[in-house]
Amino acid sequence: MSEAYVHGYHSRENERLEDQAGTLVNLLHSDTSYPSGSVILEAGCGVGAQTVTLAQRSPDARFTSIDVSANSVAEAKRRTHAAGLTNVQFQQADIFALPFAPESFDHVFVCFVLEHLSRPVEALAILNRLLRPAGTMTVIEGDHGSTYFHPDSNAAHTAIQCLVELQRLAGGNALIGRQLYPLMVEAGLEAVHVSPRMVYVDSSRPNLVDGFTRKTFTAMIEGVRESAIAAGIADPESFDAGIRDLHRTTEADGVFCYTFFKGVGEKRRRA
Ligand SMILES: C[S@@+](CC[C@H](N)C(=O)[O-])C[C@H]1O[C@@H](n2cnc3c(N)ncnc32)[C@H](O)[C@@H]1O
Repeated sequence: MSEAYVHGYHSRENERLEDQAGTLVNLLHSDTSYPSGSVILEAGCGVGAQTVTLAQRSPDARFTSIDVSANSVAEAKRRTHAAGLTNVQFQQADIFALPFAPESFDHVFVCFVLEHLSRPVEALAILNRLLRPAGTMTVIEGDHGSTYFHPDSNAAHTAIQCLVELQRLAGGNALIGRQLYPLMVEAGLEAVHVSPRMVYVDSSRPNLVDGFTRKTFTAMIEGVRESAIAAGIADPESFDAGIRDLHRTTEADGVFCYTFFKGVGEKRRRA
């Protein structure tokens, strides 16, 4: 089964994911590296924004990165090649119909994928079966409900809510970060530990103002303008006012906060 992907596949979205990955590398990945010789499945690699970081941080591990979108896989392949990486192989595949034997991976990595799935626990359970006993699963998700900012703005919250609603209509959940612990436990993972990773942005951090508030978060909300209007959940004037107010948080006195959630769990060991 392939799920509708609310953010789309056009090149602006690819650039957004790339900006997001570049800015957030340390926050999200500083504690992820895999031992020499280990075999890792990256499920839902998209255009490879995380793949490049993962493979660079674990040069002696071997990655298999899959995505349901053939175009994304082709772009991810191009990017890892351009980065000079030789420890990643790609395959177009659906998480719900994966062509791998049980227990064939030491580790699984999933980032910003569950939010798009209507059956996230089933996806995690499928991936868990592919892990060898005591192998680890790492899952990273955002949660748009964790967004707050100064100056506060009802119009901005309403624009954000449009993306949450569109994702819900497409079968996903843009508020899934807060549910990582129960989802991973329900999928059968053990020793699950979830850590919140807060992005705090004020004008003393210009890279984050530009890379996160402007080019990642606000660009993502702006990206659903036409769909939100077409779905009848926003009118152009109010939506545009919300986007203006999100941009307002990037000024000298503005502040923007968002929290990602990173969960790591373990496959049950043999008795
Ligand atoms: C927001 S992107 C994240 C990509 C990448 N993990 C990253 O962090 O940049 C979500 C990706 O999940 C993929 N996806 C959605 N449903 C999938 C499925 N059933 N099987 C495999 N990939 C899927 C989409 O094609 C998309 O590339």
